[in-house]
Amino acid sequence: MQFEVTAMTDVPCAPKRALKAAPADELLAIPDPRSDDRRPLRQPLHPDISEELIERLVRGFYEKVRADPELGPIFAAKIGDDWEPHLQKMFDFWSSITRMTGRYRGKPNAVHSRLKNVEPEHFLRWLALFRETTRDLCAPEVSAIFIDRAERIGESLQLTMFFDPANPGRILSLKETPT
Ligand code: HEM
Repeated sequence: MQFEVTAMTDVPCAPKRALKAAPADELLAIPDPRSDDRRPLRQPLHPDISEELIERLVRGFYEKVRADPELGPIFAAKIGDDWEPHLQKMFDFWSSITRMTGRYRGKPNAVHSRLKNVEPEHFLRWLALFRETTRDLCAPEVSAIFIDRAERIGESLQLTMFFDPANPGRILSLKETPT
């Protein structure tokens, strides 16, 4: 018996395509598959999310972080007194996540894994200050977008930093429980 072998690449519906890893910012900005989110890529997640809003949000948030008795010393130990480079990086980070600009090129999981003296509970405090800041500065539907992204990224950071199969309860859910 004879078989005719046709290369897959000759089949019209199987275009040749090189496999390429998605840039980190696109991975971070993957829409929630449970949501009915069909906007094309590279558009802000909401028309009100401007660079100016991101800058106000980030500056306001880190003011609180610096003054916080739990979080302040952890950041001070890494960042010292010159906060401007960190703030600029965080503008890029949130711009990539919420405006799809691709400006952030870092590796937050690797950076956080190297931090000492950070515990899962710190993420609860971080999120509490972040929620407070976004709710003070943004309309409810806009703050909901920032908070949702922070909760999901925070859980992913915790998994990289603290996952222990013998103690899966160490990872804390960051989703706000309805009151
Ligand atoms: C949802 C929660 C969090 C998000 C989205 C987040 C995001 C980020 C990002 C994007 C950076 C910049 C990484 C880079 O250098 O490219 C960063 C840096 C940093 N984060 Fe977080 N973070 C979170 C929670 C925390 C928590 C809970 C702590 C500690 C209590 C923390 C401490 C730090 C510190 C100290 C740096 C500076 C590291 C350095 O410059 O070496 N973060 N964070």
